[in-house]
Amino acid sequence: MPTIDLPRLHTDRAWRDAARRLIAAQIPPEDVLWTFATPAQDDLFAGTTPAPMPTAPITVPKSFVALADTVAWHADPERFARLYALLWRLRDHPGLMQDRGDPDLARLRQMEKNVRRCAHKMKAFVRFRDIDGDGPRRAFAAWFEPTHHTVEPTAPFFTRRFADMDWMIVTPDVTARFDAGRLSLHEGQPKPDLPEDGAEALWGTYFRNIFNPARVKVQAMTSEMPRKYWKNMPETRHIPELLANAERRAREMAEAAPSLPPLRAGRILDRLHEDRRADPLSFAALAARAEEENRRAEPGYGRIVLGEGPQDAALMIVGEQPGDEEDRAGRPFVGPAGQLFDRAAQTAGLDRRQAYVTNAVKRFKFQMRGKRRIHQAPNRGEVQHGRWWLRQEVDLVKPQLILAMGANAAEALTGRRDGILARRGMVEETEFGPVLLTLHPAYLLRLPDPAAREAATAHFRADLAMAVARLTA
Ligand code: URA
Repeated sequence: MPTIDLPRLHTDRAWRDAARRLIAAQIPPEDVLWTFATPAQDDLFAGTTPAPMPTAPITVPKSFVALADTVAWHADPERFARLYALLWRLRDHPGLMQDRGDPDLARLRQMEKNVRRCAHKMKAFVRFRDIDGDGPRRAFAAWFEPTHHTVEPTAPFFTRRFADMDWMIVTPDVTARFDAGRLSLHEGQPKPDLPEDGAEALWGTYFRNIFNPARVKVQAMTSEMPRKYWKNMPETRHIPELLANAERRAREMAEAAPSLPPLRAGRILDRLHEDRRADPLSFAALAARAEEENRRAEPGYGRIVLGEGPQDAALMIVGEQPGDEEDRAGRPFVGPAGQLFDRAAQTAGLDRRQAYVTNAVKRFKFQMRGKRRIHQAPNRGEVQHGRWWLRQEVDLVKPQLILAMGANAAEALTGRRDGILARRGMVEETEFGPVLLTLHPAYLLRLPDPAAREAATAHFRADLAMAVARLTA
């Protein structure tokens, strides 16, 4: 079995060379073992190339090359094997790169996104400190802990951005140095003891001043600036205090407003108070509130459809928003998506009657086409608004597990709507409790390709079975 040991530098090129040889020699994916030199194991440039094999030109879609060049920097040890397996399948299915329902491609696309996101975070969150260099240029150093192997692909950005200084970005994996305009890559190092510099205090003051307490959205902030980066960013030490005082400062700002009543700040404060209310409304009060809101009908929207099911259910199931039939019946998941859900649940051993079934957004949104009401996806503001209702339901039912079906439910519960295909089947800890992510049944209904639909439905069933297993464990 060929074992391909890839180096930690120029990994993208090394993978491409190896894959080209293997494919030319018609070695199937299951016969190849891919390994990657870890910092403890080897030097940076180590790695063995496969024994020479007959090479013949092969043609691969550009989109695959771009995908492979990015995924090569992912931290998942399986990345090379996954790429090679897709490359192998591409020989017989040249249109595969366009198949959005293909689970292997979807997984790799998600990995590509992870690497891009990591590179983006690196560009945004590396914080240099002034160190006394002995050369004619000012010298800076930064310590950073990337999730993926993004130092090498990101280094050119820093050379352009900080072309006129010497700098060094130290990570546990690889260190990038830029001396006198020349970039070099070296072994990673443990965290160096970097001196705090004067610019940091100035930066902290600036950060405190641009912080707007009336616009605090902790979830959005931590999704943009994940907590794992905080420890290496000097300004984040101010965040706890800024958050603790946000409500008071927003109130003071509202009271100090010179002219008309600050409607927006008032609404934010109302929401802050509502969100922090110690006791949720009772089920009856919630229903009364829904009825009250239903009296103010809005064109293009149906009525509020609250969840249904046992009030102490261990499992809460959250969909997107009621559809036409749900709006007419005043009950969630009774239309085509609900019927598909019911069939899948039955196969997976999930008894819907024992779950509390609800939606992220409570009103059907539609556009009239002739006499038909055509479903419109909720926008972000509507998902955000739905979180208030969801919070009430979660606080009342206190489920042990929440099953989030689709991107809107994921966004409402986890703050993120991206990457459902890669995140499905996994439980994420959230402010609402543990949330198991899965696909939305309507997504399965819309998949045009029967094979893709079958594969996605199998995943959906597996996720429902996982919910059952988790609750019975
Ligand atoms: N789709 C949903 O997300 N919820 C329903 O209640 C019906 C269809």
